[in-house]
Amino acid sequence: MQLFGKKDKQQVPQEFLPRHVGIIMDGNGRWAKKRGLPRTAGHVTGAKVFRTIAKYCDRRGIEVLTVYAFSTENWKRPQAEVDSIMNLLRDYLKESLSDFKHENIRTRFIGDRSMLAEDIQALMAEAEEATAEKTGMTLNIAVNYGGRDEIVHAVRTLVADGVLAEAVTAEAVESRLYTAGQPEVDLILRPSGEFRLSNYLIWQSAYAEYVFMDVLWPDFTEKDLEEAFSEYARRNRRFGGV
Ligand code: FPP
Repeated sequence: MQLFGKKDKQQVPQEFLPRHVGIIMDGNGRWAKKRGLPRTAGHVTGAKVFRTIAKYCDRRGIEVLTVYAFSTENWKRPQAEVDSIMNLLRDYLKESLSDFKHENIRTRFIGDRSMLAEDIQALMAEAEEATAEKTGMTLNIAVNYGGRDEIVHAVRTLVADGVLAEAVTAEAVESRLYTAGQPEVDLILRPSGEFRLSNYLIWQSAYAEYVFMDVLWPDFTEKDLEEAFSEYARRNRRFGGV
């Protein structure tokens, strides 16, 4: 199915858009290095781009957007870099608590929060509560998130719930994931030229379409997103059928 070519200005109609989009916001470090700046400068610009793209996805009628802000593996980075990402998250949370009033976005956090600073955990809870009744897009921000970790967490919950072996089904696992109740991921988008999933939404993206783009996240624009949507709309999804 040929929808719109790259040169077409027309946008993909809503019915052909993914319901759930996952974005790996990659390339911040390389973007900064290219400019002779510290890696943290890349994260600062990356956080701004994140705001723009999240609002754009809501305007485009995307149901769920899940962004990878900090993985379970990212603790291995130098402490100063970890601190800078946490500070960006803190700033975003504080600022968005007032900004949320103007947006119709429901914000949720996925991942293991127990290792995060207490004030960040409190701000996360506040943000979730403040936006719980919003009716627009659901924005999942993955912090201290890992796909394997999420599955382990779901299995532990199954055991704690006393679920018997014969009652363990895909649905039983799914209902214990951080994204329980949300549609599965349709499109995984990774800018920066890397071709990896990096432990992101490994259960939810079993049948996702992958779009890898050769642009660093801080340079990513709404136009790049539209290109990814066009590419997605051209794919023929069969979900294992014919
Ligand atoms: C990957 O690029 C990026 C991260 C690990 C951090 C992403 C974080 C942000 C965009 C800011 C988060 C803030 C909010 C408010 C959600 P990289 O550092 O691995 O880049 P590289 O591969 O070029 O080194």
